[in-house]
Amino acid sequence: MTDYGKLLEMAIERLPLSYVPYSHFHCSAMLLCSDGKLFHGMNIENAAYTPTICAERCAIFKAVSEGYRDFKAMAVVGCDESILSSPEFTQEHILPPGSGNSGPCGVCRQVMQEFCDPESFDIILGRSAEDYTVYKLKDLYPYAFGPADLNK
Ligand code: THU
Repeated sequence: MTDYGKLLEMAIERLPLSYVPYSHFHCSAMLLCSDGKLFHGMNIENAAYTPTICAERCAIFKAVSEGYRDFKAMAVVGCDESILSSPEFTQEHILPPGSGNSGPCGVCRQVMQEFCDPESFDIILGRSAEDYTVYKLKDLYPYAFGPADLNK
């Protein structure tokens, strides 16, 4: 079983993979499937802006496209490019995806709602294996519209 601190560390290690020529803000997500399989996602931006995909959706779509739909948790981190590439960089500069206490964007929460159990899916936000908080999807995305509203 991958522990959540390790999951967060893996997301941090992969931050430089993001393609962010426009926002210069790197995001990285490690998705843990219920069987222990891991998928990584990062934000991939586009000159036309709207085709940009967030790290969280990238990870989920990679997993779903490989036949995985049973998810346990996701660790998400973000960091400004100027800090990430500077010699001054330390893990203290890692942020949850936005800044301060923010979390995944609304579109990504909606995609999580599609594939994850809101009661049990854990979202891990923090800056190191020792400094993170675990949130349930139901708490980050209350009153969500989801599959249960259509599949009656
Ligand atoms: N971004 C993510 O990848 N995840 C989030 O939860 C918030 C925002 C990306 C999208 C865009 O490439 C950049 O961060 C700035 O919004």
